[in-house]
Amino acid sequence: MRFKSAHLFLLLSVILHSSIATGLALALASTTANATSPASKTCTMLQAQMGSEVVQFSGAEYNASASNAWSLFNAQNKPTCIVFPQEASHVQTAMAAIFHNKIHYAVQAGGHTAMTGWNTVQDGILFFFSHMKNVSYNATSDTITLQPGIHWGEALTQLQPLGVAPLGGRLGDVGTGLLLGGGLSYLSGEHGFSADSYVALDVVLVTGQLVTATATNQYADLFRALKGGANRFGIVTRYEVQAVHTGDASEKQFFGGLILYPNSSAEALINATQRYVSKVNNPRASILMAFSNSVNGSEITSTHILTLFFRGPSLPPAIFGEFLEIPSIMKQLSALSYVDANNILGAGADRGFGQLFGASAFNGTVDQYRNAFQKWNEYTESIKDSLFGTVLAFTPIQQSQVQAGRARGSNIIDPPMGNYAAVQVQTQMQNGLLTISDQVQAARQLLFQSMPRTPGLPLYINECDASQNVFETYGRFEELKKTYAKYDPTRFNVQFTDGPIGL
Ligand SMILES: Cc1cc2nc3c(=O)[nH]c(=O)nc-3n(C[C@H](O)[C@H](O)[C@H](O)COP(=O)(O)OP(=O)(O)OC[C@H]3O[C@@H](n4cnc5c(N)ncnc54)[C@H](O)[C@@H]3O)c2cc1C
Ligand SMILES: *[C@@H]1O[C@H](CO)[C@@H](O)[C@H](O)[C@H]1NC(C)=O
Ligand SMILES: *[C@@H]1O[C@H](CO)[C@@H](O)[C@H](O)[C@H]1NC(C)=O
Ligand SMILES: *[C@@H]1O[C@H](CO)[C@@H](O)[C@H](O)[C@H]1NC(C)=O
Ligand SMILES: *[C@@H]1O[C@H](CO)[C@@H](O)[C@H](O)[C@H]1NC(C)=O
Ligand SMILES: *[C@@H]1O[C@H](CO)[C@@H](O)[C@H](O)[C@H]1NC(C)=O
Ligand SMILES: *[C@@H]1O[C@H](CO)[C@@H](O)[C@H](O)[C@H]1NC(C)=O
Ligand SMILES: *[C@@H]1O[C@H](CO)[C@@H](O)[C@H](O)[C@H]1NC(C)=O
Ligand SMILES: *[C@@H]1O[C@H](CO)[C@@H](O)[C@H](O)[C@H]1NC(C)=O
Repeated sequence: MRFKSAHLFLLLSVILHSSIATGLALALASTTANATSPASKTCTMLQAQMGSEVVQFSGAEYNASASNAWSLFNAQNKPTCIVFPQEASHVQTAMAAIFHNKIHYAVQAGGHTAMTGWNTVQDGILFFFSHMKNVSYNATSDTITLQPGIHWGEALTQLQPLGVAPLGGRLGDVGTGLLLGGGLSYLSGEHGFSADSYVALDVVLVTGQLVTATATNQYADLFRALKGGANRFGIVTRYEVQAVHTGDASEKQFFGGLILYPNSSAEALINATQRYVSKVNNPRASILMAFSNSVNGSEITSTHILTLFFRGPSLPPAIFGEFLEIPSIMKQLSALSYVDANNILGAGADRGFGQLFGASAFNGTVDQYRNAFQKWNEYTESIKDSLFGTVLAFTPIQQSQVQAGRARGSNIIDPPMGNYAAVQVQTQMQNGLLTISDQVQAARQLLFQSMPRTPGLPLYINECDASQNVFETYGRFEELKKTYAKYDPTRFNVQFTDGPIGL
């Protein structure tokens, strides 16, 4: 992306999570290795079994991986050792020992969770999938097989020459952990949550047992639970998903791009967003509406960004006309390949900021949206001294998306039939800031309380705050609990790894 104005680029950078941050010198929490701790003994044993490439206690690769997490809050931990699996059996061996010895552990794929603690661990074992990044396409079955370490940008780029794509996300640096929480892409209207595309999953259960789950085999309950159950149901070592025929680089199947708006257009954008969410039910249409506040010193600057796509030769005015007419700062619209569409917001790869999310879900009148916009502005103002910026984002979930998921056997989220918006608040702390003050915590809780979900709508777990009980908002919550009890009867996962509450 090239923008004429450096100022504009700066504003955008907040939204795109890609700042002009300079190198960050952090005093990493110093830890004294404790060779007699259970974690340390387990790591030593695992290294003897699998070698010093697979199990690492220190060194350049260990350091880069320990500090890889996108949220700075997660880049501070020093795992006792990091397991770099090269095949599923490495995960099995390590998981069996972790289970037997009761060791705390964590899993990191793309590293993009904003939930503190979910993808790293201190004094425990981290699984890091940087050596399992294969992706392949099988034309006979029309499926794509992904190893967990690949990022969406890499998968899309490698598959584009074959004219196919997996359902993933909308930014290239994000990884496959997205699938386990559901997954929202520019293809969701047509094909459902990204997880709805599963065909088969290899899963290492807490005991170390490896199973293959499909929609129809004896692990069909596990298969569905992994469509929204996040990291609670085992470690996935292979995803086989239905391919989508998005075309190669020359076939520009999509039309759309990005529009930047001044804050004076905010009210019109709120209205347009509400109308889009409640009215549009066209599987080929997709938007992401992100309101953005960026902070410099005590000054807040608001710029709002819309990405909009239609899988077709142009943007139908009946769907997008209102957004196209609202006064904007910049419009960048053209025919695009699927890879182009996924690059429109950049990769989202930059690091150095503590990140916090929070989720809501709306299907109400414009008042519900206006209230959220106002409360989010007040929130930003009240804690601006700690911030780099905040975003209030709306992703419409169309009825067609819910239908597509049900047609493929249903996910565990199982939203009610009808349109709604997944609402996300992103808080990006000042560069390098490692503490969250009580004032920030209180302001966040106040914000979540003041923009509650419409009762009956599910929250999106990949965009939640760790304190939110997302599972209990799922349509199939009772089934989720039952499946969890079946596959992890001793409740090892909820006791020994950080993740969503509520099971
Ligand atoms: C810049 C940015 C853009 C985003 N855009 C989108 C978007 O367009 N659409 C969307 O739906 N979401 C989006 N998200 C949210 C995203 O879905 C979540 O952040 C998701 O958790 C990222 O997955 P990951 O593999 O990158 O992260 P990780 O932090 O590596 O993993 C996320 C969670 O899944 C667990 N996990 C990962 N792999 C496995 C595995 N193989 N087995 C078991 N557990 C595992 C981890 O332990 C962790 O709890 C975005 C996030 C960011 C930061
Ligand atoms: C090392 O770990 C063992 C077992 O957990 C514990 O008893 C001991 O106090 C620890 N030593 C230090 C120096 O932390
Ligand atoms: C890894 O980081 C530690 C500090 O946390 C440092 O002492 C060590 O030299 C680093 N190792 C490598 C190989 O960079
Ligand atoms: C992954 O790719 C590598 C290199 O192409 C290959 O050697 C390996 O067998 C592949 N692994 C799997 C599980 O497909
Ligand atoms: C591709 O899919 C077909 C049909 O499911 C299957 O028979 C074949 O073994 C697959 N090929 C590979 C390389 O996995
Ligand atoms: C937005 O909608 C509200 C309520 O319907 C209306 O009063 C207001 O004039 C609209 N504002 C704009 C800018 O469209
Ligand atoms: C922040 O504001 C200061 C003072 O107004 C200005 O000099 C600086 O360029 C601004 N920084 C950015 C990143 O815009
Ligand atoms: C943006 O506009 C809203 C009203 O629509 C206002 O409340 C808010 O303060 C504005 N933001 C800035 C930074 O001026
Ligand atoms: C919003 O969703 C709830 C829960 O499914 C439902 O009861 C209500 O009818 C929906 N409202 C609209 C306007 O769609």
